[in-house]
Amino acid sequence: MRVKVLEGVGAEVSQIDLNELADSEIDDVKTAFAEHGLLFFRDQDIDEQAHLRFSRIWGDINVNRFFDAHPEFPEIAVVSKEPDQTFNIGGDWHTDHSYDHLPALGSVLVSRQLPASGGDTWFTSMYKAYDGLSAGLQSFLESLRAVHSAKHVFGSRAPEARQEAIGDQFNNKSAADELEDPVHPVVIRHPLSGRKALFVNSGFTLRFEGWTEEESAPLLEMLYAAAIREPYITRFNWQPGSVVFWDNRATWHFAQNDYQGQRRVMHRTTIEGGPLEGVVGIH
Ligand code: SIN
Repeated sequence: MRVKVLEGVGAEVSQIDLNELADSEIDDVKTAFAEHGLLFFRDQDIDEQAHLRFSRIWGDINVNRFFDAHPEFPEIAVVSKEPDQTFNIGGDWHTDHSYDHLPALGSVLVSRQLPASGGDTWFTSMYKAYDGLSAGLQSFLESLRAVHSAKHVFGSRAPEARQEAIGDQFNNKSAADELEDPVHPVVIRHPLSGRKALFVNSGFTLRFEGWTEEESAPLLEMLYAAAIREPYITRFNWQPGSVVFWDNRATWHFAQNDYQGQRRVMHRTTIEGGPLEGVVGIH
């Protein structure tokens, strides 16, 4: 197995077949995942069973409440955009499942049908986002927690125009409305790497705990802009056989919506995570 570290975020892993992983290779993938938080694999010929097998190495699979499920393998969520649809799933910077009390570890995304061009996915590093801030701001942020929510994305708090564009691409609006909004530390100690990472995102973070949304917006916007500096970013161009495994606690991503009139179908598994710890008192 070969690991090539990329300049922005993540590493490309080659000389590996995800269908047949020896124990030593699993250990090497674990090490690379803990270190880079984002792994790109190319030229993989994996079917749904192999996708599930690879995903289960990392933990239990979260059955997505909002996306369509694969008809035969309900643990696989289908992330698709049809030629006549204008909305694409994941078309803004976000990290998945920060609206859960136990945010997901990460996701394994497999390309199944790609447009002739476009449909890249962009990733950025939450370690670099944190490391790039001044020491003063870092230490202030370490004392804060933030409220996250799914209601304005998947539920009835979503603006009307957004709900109209989404159409029937999301299901189960009431599940989002019923979720109790969790509070997470703004800076976490990453459970695998031990490094500090910024844990707010423009998709699901509502406000700082004890602050109003209006008061929180300027600082959140500043952090969002700081997190997408060019040197932190990797843009991934999907090909048949591409597989990406990302860590939601170490990265953000967004799917570019620039292939109108064409079909794009991806299969996603999401792996359950655990509680996130802040860093107050640990330096
Ligand atoms: C997602 O946000 O999970 C979708 C990413 C993609 O389709 O590239």
